[in-house]
Amino acid sequence: MTATTTRPRLRLAPLPTPLEPLHQLGAALGLSPGQLFVKRDDLTGLAMGGNKVRKLEYSLAAAAAASANCIVTGGAAQSNHVRLTAAAARRSGMACSVVLVGAPPEKAEGNVLLTLTFGAQVTWIDTPDHTDLGPAISALADAERASGNTPYVLPPGGSSTEGNLAYVAAAQELREQCPGLALVVTADASGGTHAGLAAGFGDHALVLGVDVGLRADLIPEVARMARDTASEWGVTAPRGEPQLDRSQIGGGYGCPTVAGRNALDLCVDTEGMILEPTYTAKAMAALIMRAQSGELPAGPVIFLHTGGYPELFTGDAVDWLTNRRRA
Ligand SMILES: Cc1ncc(COP(=O)(O)O)c(C=O)c1O
Repeated sequence: MTATTTRPRLRLAPLPTPLEPLHQLGAALGLSPGQLFVKRDDLTGLAMGGNKVRKLEYSLAAAAAASANCIVTGGAAQSNHVRLTAAAARRSGMACSVVLVGAPPEKAEGNVLLTLTFGAQVTWIDTPDHTDLGPAISALADAERASGNTPYVLPPGGSSTEGNLAYVAAAQELREQCPGLALVVTADASGGTHAGLAAGFGDHALVLGVDVGLRADLIPEVARMARDTASEWGVTAPRGEPQLDRSQIGGGYGCPTVAGRNALDLCVDTEGMILEPTYTAKAMAALIMRAQSGELPAGPVIFLHTGGYPELFTGDAVDWLTNRRRA
């Protein structure tokens, strides 16, 4: 990767995040010593961290360059992207107005609690269809304009071209930390993290996205975003096609799975590492399944830990943690 981006960037995360070996987990899975690593993007600093902080470095800088005074976005009730956007808006001196899918909870917990703590204005839409979110975000932006504000809209998940550039830079960071890397495994919701990494590596074969069940059109969407992001970075589109593992969707987005809970058990027991049910447990479950069936490449395999911790302290996730089986 030789070209770069001239897009402005805000500094929100202490980078590079650590790349740590997972010796015990690798041994439990029968992998070679030194084959399995975790990239700690759960440690991106701002407001309990996670992958979205990197994206916000680019998208909030773009908002400031556009003289916006208000960020408008939205997501699922327990959206990490919304929590971190609310925090980054605070840091940037901007207001934040968001749409959350669901009914207002009697008692705010996890990401909702933090989103409110960061002073975001929350509009709830009680719909089973996540595609209603885009029009609701546009309507909220119109309302902000009508009241004299200059809104800057971030799509759900923060997966705009600016946001995805952050993972082109993260791919560069990973190449420096692990020049021979053979595969990065990451949870895919809106797909921007996956797309940015593939664009940064120039090769779809180096990234395995694990579908967590948010959208049905991930393969064409990741392919499109990877092309757009590569073009914005000034490099050619990545070779090949996006690799997507759809084996871990279970009951759908936000529905915990037994395989995810078993993945948490193994990570806790071998590495003292925590996963949450919606994203990282599903991604790790796919990695474990592939290790056990001998489908992982022989070179270094990197699990991208994308964070998501606040959801662990909500009622459903507390039950998931409490009821997990132990060996
Ligand atoms: C903790 C966590 N992991 C992974 C993802 C997936 O990232 P993306 O939306 O870029 O696919 C998200 C996005 O919501 C997330 O919050």
